[in-house]
Amino acid sequence: MESCDLLITGASQLITMHTGAAWPRAGPGMAELGLIEDGGVAVRAGRILAAGPSADLRSRFEAPVVIQAAGKVVMPGLVDPHTHLVFAGSRENEFELRLAGISYQEIARRGGGILSTVRATRAASREALIEQARARLDRMLRWGTTTVEAKSGYGLSTADELKQLDVAKALNDEGPVTIVSTFMGAHEVPAEHRTDRRRYLDGLIAETIPRVAEAGLAVFNDVFCETGVFTPDESRAILEAGVRCGLRPKVHADELSSCGGGELAGQVGAISADHLVHPSDAGLDALRQHGVMAVLLPGTSFCLRSRYAPARRMIEMGIPVALATDLNPGSCPIEAMPIIIGLACLNLGLTPAEALTAATVNAACAIGLGDRIGRLSAGLEADLLILDLPDYRGIPYYFGRNPVETVVKAGRIVWEWRT
Ligand code: NIG
Ligand code: FE
Repeated sequence: MESCDLLITGASQLITMHTGAAWPRAGPGMAELGLIEDGGVAVRAGRILAAGPSADLRSRFEAPVVIQAAGKVVMPGLVDPHTHLVFAGSRENEFELRLAGISYQEIARRGGGILSTVRATRAASREALIEQARARLDRMLRWGTTTVEAKSGYGLSTADELKQLDVAKALNDEGPVTIVSTFMGAHEVPAEHRTDRRRYLDGLIAETIPRVAEAGLAVFNDVFCETGVFTPDESRAILEAGVRCGLRPKVHADELSSCGGGELAGQVGAISADHLVHPSDAGLDALRQHGVMAVLLPGTSFCLRSRYAPARRMIEMGIPVALATDLNPGSCPIEAMPIIIGLACLNLGLTPAEALTAATVNAACAIGLGDRIGRLSAGLEADLLILDLPDYRGIPYYFGRNPVETVVKAGRIVWEWRT
């Protein structure tokens, strides 16, 4: 018998996401879960030692901690590859204005929107930001999220952007949730630069981006390429400046209007194009040609009561699709990936299997971690969930119910639901 640290056996469904196929998953491959009935997982030193039929594991491994998962689903930890995790304040007032028929864009034009959160975030201390973001992360973990991407973009000055990124780093160091940081100084033009936006852009390119990269505080560089925010040309210049400093591009693309975001993401070799509610045909072709992940955010469409991204068309074209919350105080305060999986099935037209792929293996690929997390296969990090459900389709079916019973992060039980 081989010894391991943790042995889970008897799961009614073990979702490995290990299908032998290349990742990210695209087309019909998105529906393949590597599902094993009566399956289990052996974990040692924070990694998956083996994942497969229970009988095999029971005959090969012994462990000080053994979990019987009869009647439960065991699956990879959820990955949330697009959030604006670090911010201060909230915007219930804008929620009420939107219910009264005033659009997200109109609220922004009146000085609300992103700029109102910039004011609150600038005014908040590092400690206050840590405390608020930690509370969000704790809740996200209980809903099964073991890795998140977190963007800056509510500082919009070098010092305030560094403050936001430093908060994300502190929380990543604290654990247990892994945080991958994205610089998003091009989230909006700050109030003090409204009459000379050129200077803001020049400052981003000449000063802020190099400082962020030098400090090692971000892996990606994102822009809000949108009518009335940053044009495709401005966005390209910012993304290219990031590439020169080693930051891989991401794009908030075609969220509120069709404005060339998808095309841009292809041209600059972005790892992902996110939102894509209004992509053009050429934009979709560019994503497919350049292998750009489409990160879809159905929670934002739901909260803004807008259209939904043409997800079925993307999957039929062979564009790999991932899902994320977009957690932010304006367009989508949803923290729970299981809710997003539900919305993806109900409103984007994904099947439950496709949605699970999009929230695990493909979500990991959207933040460059496809070789480390998102699948349960030997050698990968042991981030996994035990669900209080016998069938994975219960995640979207029981919409609004938290299915997560146990969260294992890097081989350690970090959350257990107890009644
Ligand atoms: O992804 N679109 C830009 N950023 C966020 C919204 C940010 C905010 O309203 O504070 C988004 O929807
Ligand atoms: Fe966003």
